[in-house]
Amino acid sequence: MENNKKIIFSGMQPSGTPTLGNYLGALKNWNIMQKDYRCLFSVVDLHALTVRREPKELRQASLSLMALYIALGLDPSENIIFYQSQVPQHTQLSWILNCYAYVGELNRMTQYKEKSAKHSENINSGLFTYPVLMASDILLYQTDCVPVGEDQRQHLEIARDIAIRFNNIYGETFKVPESYIGKAGARVMGLQDPEKKMSKSGDDAISILDDPKVIMNKVKRAVTDSDARVYYDPSNKPGISNMLNIYSAITGKSIEECSEEFAGAGYGDFKKAVGEVIINELEPVQKKYNELISNKDYLNSIAKEGAEKAQNLAFRTYNKVCKKIGLIQI
Ligand code: TRP
Repeated sequence: MENNKKIIFSGMQPSGTPTLGNYLGALKNWNIMQKDYRCLFSVVDLHALTVRREPKELRQASLSLMALYIALGLDPSENIIFYQSQVPQHTQLSWILNCYAYVGELNRMTQYKEKSAKHSENINSGLFTYPVLMASDILLYQTDCVPVGEDQRQHLEIARDIAIRFNNIYGETFKVPESYIGKAGARVMGLQDPEKKMSKSGDDAISILDDPKVIMNKVKRAVTDSDARVYYDPSNKPGISNMLNIYSAITGKSIEECSEEFAGAGYGDFKKAVGEVIINELEPVQKKYNELISNKDYLNSIAKEGAEKAQNLAFRTYNKVCKKIGLIQI
């Protein structure tokens, strides 16, 4: 890319609306990263195919995620925002890298084991080679850093291993990507089950697009404990601690400050305050989203521009790879 800012690649699957957990754990950080890095933000729709979906639903979810990226404040003129399927080099490189990834190492992937247990009726090869497509996403752009949560760490490790392996055989071809550790992103737990990460499919998940009333209700119903005092103690008070984490991540205040603020408060008042900061945080995003989602032409024009910029970059790496391995160029 033109300037010497480092390159970040990040992607999210268009499957269901992102949750408050996705927002505080990842998306909010993307917004911050774009100031210091050259960023590629992709709607990784090909990855979403590993689970069977209604075509209409996939299309809708992809458009919706694109709108959400923009609504969050990701700037399409400064960054490259695109649909993965619009840049054919992802799948082309993926095939090639499949030939440099070992069945043994893919077999060890925790996510593959979990997903194949969960979708035992559809253990397709895409599910198995998912990390190779992800490696292609990353390596195509000579990415310096990838912001990854705990659940994607193994996948980034494989991307690095493949890059190193390829470079060892053919000489420097790929930048070996590092993980990006952001400003401590909050790990948001479920409101009903604060021992587990908030998941898109949980019925207590707060979606980024939930109505203020719905958000407040979900927070009010959140599981707490019988101690009736607000303070931070994740092992004995996981519900309250989770809400303190949320409050702290949104307001930017430290956990200590937040605990002090609610020292004398009852759970009812505390929950109301948590609900309110969530609602206020999401309100501008929702407003922007609602404007954008009805403007399909605009979203498509952004996606088109993003795909063209991405293709230009991707082509350079892909071409280099083809030359190195001996594919004929005409
Ligand atoms: N696998 C990631 C997830 O489920 C999404 C993803 C695909 C990704 N390609 C990527 C993330 C490249 C970072 C970089 O969350």
